[in-house]
Order: sequence, then structure tokens, then C-alpha cells
Amino acid sequence: MDTFVEYWIFQYTQRAYYPYYRMFPSVAKFLENLDKVIHRNVRQTVPGSNPPRFVTEWRDAKTLLVHYKSQRGLVSFAVALIKALGKYFKEPIEVKLLNNHLIEVKFLYDPNASKILEHS
Ligand code: HEM
Repeated sequence: MDTFVEYWIFQYTQRAYYPYYRMFPSVAKFLENLDKVIHRNVRQTVPGSNPPRFVTEWRDAKTLLVHYKSQRGLVSFAVALIKALGKYFKEPIEVKLLNNHLIEVKFLYDPNASKILEHS
């Protein structure tokens, strides 16, 4: 599983979807835009595709809750992908499955501080 998701994040999606990694250059930004922008674009451009829905919600300054909605039940795949995103962006994060529809992402640094840096 880890090998596959790392291939997905580090190789495959880099070819066709590289602009997203530049547009949303952090785990938090990427996840916040996964539903509205990335998977939405896939849904519109790849015939027959039906990528899962994700709704994000900040529980506190360092904890992002990611709600997963799909009929496929591939939530562990999502957990592995988020871990791979952390490696990709070189961010220290902890990813935990709370239940079949809910993933918790803990940032072991202040994600808001990095947002300020990005804009400066
Ligand atoms: C540029 C990045 C990404 C692209 C282009 C992308 C695209 C896709 C595509 C094409 C599918 C197959 C949909 C289908 O055939 O019906 C898919 C499925 C999936 N994606 Fe993404 N994805 C990306 C990033 C992510 C990330 C970071 C996550 C982690 C939260 C994620 C979670 C999933 C899951 C769990 C599925 C399996 C299908 C399901 O659960 O219903 N994706 N994605």
C-alpha cells in the first residue's frame, strides 16, 4: 500500500497534475482544495470517474478533520495518501483514522505560521 500511494503522489499525479502541487503547496492547503478543485476537476474531465468527496474542518489550530464520503469504503487508502502527502511536502504530521468516515490530521508544527511565510 505505501509503495503504491507513494508512486501515486510522487510519480503518477506529478505528470498530469503537477500544477496542483504548486497551487496548494502544503498538506493543509492540498486537503482543503482536494474536494472543491482537484477531485472536482477529475470528475468533470475523466469520463465515468467518481472520486470520493472530502470535507475539511479545523478542530483546533493544529488539527484538521477530514470527512470522507464515498460508496467505496477506501478510507485506509485516503489515510495512506495523506501520509504520503506529508512526506512529499516534508511536513511532520500524524494521520489517524477515527472511524470509517473521519480522518484526523495532526500538524506537529504550527500550520498557520507556515501560511504567513508563504505569503511573505
Ligand atoms: C493530484 C492529486 C490527486 C488526483 C489527481 C486524484 C485523482 C483521483 C482519481 C482519478 C481517482 C479515481 C476515481 C474513479 O475512477 O472513480 C481517485 C480516487 C481516490 N482518491 Fe484521489 N486524487 C488525488 C489526490 C488524492 C489525495 C491526496 C487523497 C487523500 C485524501 C485522495 C483520495 C482518494 C481516494 C480514497 C480514492 C479512491 C476512491 C474512493 O474512495 O471512492 N486523492 N483520485
